[in-house]
Amino acid sequence: MKKIAIVGATGAVGEEILNVLDELDFPVESILPLASAKSVGMSIEFRGKTYKIQELTEDVFRKNPVDIAFFSAGGSVSEKYAKYAVDCGAVVIDNTSHFRMDKDVPLVVPECNSEDIKNWEKTGIIANPNCSTIQMVHILKPLDDVFNLKRVDVSTYQAASGAGKEGMEELVEGMQSFFAFKIEDFEAKTFPYTLALNLIPQIDVFTENGYTKEELKMVNETQKILHKNIEISATCVRVPVLRSHSEAITMQFEKDIDITRVREILSKAQNVVIIDDIKNKKYPMPLFTSDTNETYVGRIRCDINRKNILHLWCVADQIRVGAATNAVRIAQKWLELV
Ligand code: A2P
Repeated sequence: MKKIAIVGATGAVGEEILNVLDELDFPVESILPLASAKSVGMSIEFRGKTYKIQELTEDVFRKNPVDIAFFSAGGSVSEKYAKYAVDCGAVVIDNTSHFRMDKDVPLVVPECNSEDIKNWEKTGIIANPNCSTIQMVHILKPLDDVFNLKRVDVSTYQAASGAGKEGMEELVEGMQSFFAFKIEDFEAKTFPYTLALNLIPQIDVFTENGYTKEELKMVNETQKILHKNIEISATCVRVPVLRSHSEAITMQFEKDIDITRVREILSKAQNVVIIDDIKNKKYPMPLFTSDTNETYVGRIRCDINRKNILHLWCVADQIRVGAATNAVRIAQKWLELV
């Protein structure tokens, strides 16, 4: 049984980590829910017990030692506080981008590179990848193993949940102001523009090469997870959906693909579910994949012109598959090692 801290326990991902720990039967001895000073006085429930939220401070881990600390309160919080958890003997499973590209920190999607977890002791930290990367590598890895992946072009359709509770609230408020005929007066705060009834082709800030940071995360993190310098280009778009991300992925392989084989490989891939029955209009959609722990794939088809190019559509719950569930699955694999 393990003592667990959740940094960002009042946030969208923190709350979901609690649900997933319970659902996946994780051996939890106790929970230390941490958040900012403004949440002190609130409490959370886990398996019939009530735990008071405590403020994240430099010495909170010394006073309440834990085995595993899930960090999900933003990069600057991880940068400042992860070391205190590690110094007090915890493994940190970090959901922010802060440590992801550090060469001494394993970046793990258990279905793809769980063997990298063995390097956790170098820093005491294991990084959870970006949400869009996680669901994409669920698909890329098993196909790469057979057909040798050379290039990926992906367009994402990312839900408001990627910006946390504030993002989801802003989308709902935007919709409400539309129905109140007041959308012209709506002021976006979390997103650069009103998201309701809109698409925003910018997630995170732009870099010098014209790509956004979010797009470059998909490039760099995928290469690190697959241990392969494949060519990748991403266009990341925020869409007015509450919590599942969708992706249109084009993959170019060294070998020609056989579509029956592709379906067979994906049907056996861990935590991947195929919904692909076009005659009956069946394909994955964000409204129906939310609150689940699987990555869904459909619209699987070979390119019209080239036999080594595959196109498909992939959807997964951003808060679960793209964050909380992956973090808990990392913790499960880590437990097998220690
Ligand atoms: P709080 O609710 O006290 O602000 P989300 O991603 O859904 O917006 O959630 C962010 C989470 O990170 C919340 O639990 C929030 O706590 C927590 N958080 C944000 N800043 C800090 C901080 N400086 N110290 C501790 N927790 C923080």
